[in-house]
Amino acid sequence: MEHYGLQSAAGHLTVAPESKEPYAPEVLAQLHADAVQVVARYPQARSALLPLLHLVQSVDGYVTGRGIDFCAEVLDLTTAEVSGVATFYTQYKRHPNGEYTVGVCTNTLCAIMGGDQIWDEVSEYLGIGHDETTADGRITLERVECNAACDFAPVVMANWEFFDNQTPESTKRLVDDLRAGKAVKPSRGPNRVCTFKQVSRVLAGFHDGLADEGVGAGPASVEGLRLARENDWTAPDGDGNRHTSQQDSTTTQASADASGAPGPSGAAGASGTGLAAGRSSSTDSHANDADEKPGAQPAADEKGK
Ligand code: FES
Repeated sequence: MEHYGLQSAAGHLTVAPESKEPYAPEVLAQLHADAVQVVARYPQARSALLPLLHLVQSVDGYVTGRGIDFCAEVLDLTTAEVSGVATFYTQYKRHPNGEYTVGVCTNTLCAIMGGDQIWDEVSEYLGIGHDETTADGRITLERVECNAACDFAPVVMANWEFFDNQTPESTKRLVDDLRAGKAVKPSRGPNRVCTFKQVSRVLAGFHDGLADEGVGAGPASVEGLRLARENDWTAPDGDGNRHTSQQDSTTTQASADASGAPGPSGAAGASGTGLAAGRSSSTDSHANDADEKPGAQPAADEKGK
């Protein structure tokens, strides 16, 4: 019998025996070569733990015991520290996972829009519960929390690709197609759904070139933006005063004049940055300022705030 994490009557999960078996030498060599690239992206090696756990999943299909040992050795951590992280996040599986994780959003909005009904019917249809996998190893079913796609509720994810405005019937067709190996097309993003192992490698930081495929935000997501443009609405300024896009243009031009840089009508104006006048990019935010150095003292005028 395959070990796909079906729970025993006592609630214990079964784990495949090979979980602790050593990696084949060529597999281990490739893991080390990949890990060197991942670790090199971080100032401190231990910061690479999350992507390394995804890397383990891209090879084993879940976080195995040998995968925990590997991460601990590479990052000079204890196995308890690695296990503590692997058991905290739901994207890390501690037992064999199916080829496709199908997540039904049962968070508030999706639930009342039909997510609970989808969950009940699909769970019964597949004969599995939360975090359990079909005997053919193709589908792991999960209840998932809000995917920030409430405007397309109820939403179902297949390996974290969006399937919008689902019904019990459409979701049953989706799992049937995935089990039959048929091509399925997400509502947004790339044209296909990659396997759990393939997606895990992307999450480890090895791009598959699909990130920019397809539509990211559908019409429902940008409805507010459409209305704002239609009515010439803009965000309030820092004082909480509402201002118009015309004022923004004047201010931007005045700042540009003062600095000697071209304004919105110049070559490097708003159109050059891809931002409409008055809108700020995320790089304008203090949230993106460099972290304070450890041990740095707050500036004098910030003390006592
Ligand atoms: S509640 Fe389902 S995506 Fe937000």
